[in-house]
Amino acid sequence: MAEFNLPANSRIQEGKHHRDSSNGRLRKVRVYRWEPDSGENPRLDTYEVDMDACGPMVLDVLIRIKNHIDSTLTFRRSCREGICGSCAMNIDGSNALACTRSCEEIKGDINIYPLPHMSVVKDLVPDLNNFYAQYASIKPWLQADSAAPDAERLQSEEDRAKLDGLYECILCACCSTSCPSYWWNSDRYLGPAALLQAYRWIADSRDDATGERLDELDDAFKLYRCHTIMNCTNACPKGLNPAKAIAEIKKTIVARK
Ligand code: SF4
Ligand code: SF4
Ligand code: FES
Repeated sequence: MAEFNLPANSRIQEGKHHRDSSNGRLRKVRVYRWEPDSGENPRLDTYEVDMDACGPMVLDVLIRIKNHIDSTLTFRRSCREGICGSCAMNIDGSNALACTRSCEEIKGDINIYPLPHMSVVKDLVPDLNNFYAQYASIKPWLQADSAAPDAERLQSEEDRAKLDGLYECILCACCSTSCPSYWWNSDRYLGPAALLQAYRWIADSRDDATGERLDELDDAFKLYRCHTIMNCTNACPKGLNPAKAIAEIKKTIVARK
């Protein structure tokens, strides 16, 4: 029987304790910390944060920590309004955008980890190189046979409506990193984010590369590692349904045979 052991340096240890300098309503926030160059194991640091001194979202708490308590904490963020996708992380046990996740909704201590099953660059920053390469592999741009017109390529209202629920994807990776199939096969399975994006172009009436796109996806690993577990759809902070998009790709492949 196969036996799996975690490498000794992967065990998370109890970390440092930090306290906010101001004395408002204190709340405990436990944050995953890891510096690959240090040679040390990952640790969970505890911060007592003055909630009266920062905004209501988890990202506000992280910014409070970074600016006032511990400047060594590393995380990504940009827009602070759920548009750029860069603050995706695992909060209170589920993947979410730190800037749209309210602290009030979390009971007890706030536990924050990087997106699961990804290599960690530092602290809460995952390595998304493979994720972006997979996105690039689906050729996420319009491929039309006709020459570009002087103005926009027009589309009926009905055809435009087929892109709703697809174009809103912000590539945050919350879905792919919550998918068990992606955890085990991310080297070959494209995962729900890239597949939703692939379907966004398959569903676009202005695109003429549908056949080639489907040929590329009709693969035991790239597409058919999805076993309809639905974690992806539950995780999407934009309320999208990657599992449905994947099912539509499979249906389209069957229909053309
Ligand atoms: S439905 Fe497919 S893509 Fe979504 S979590 Fe399940 S296996 Fe992964
Ligand atoms: S489908 Fe949703 S969870 Fe997945 S990358 Fe797009 S916005 Fe993020
Ligand atoms: S900071 Fe842009 S989505 Fe959170």
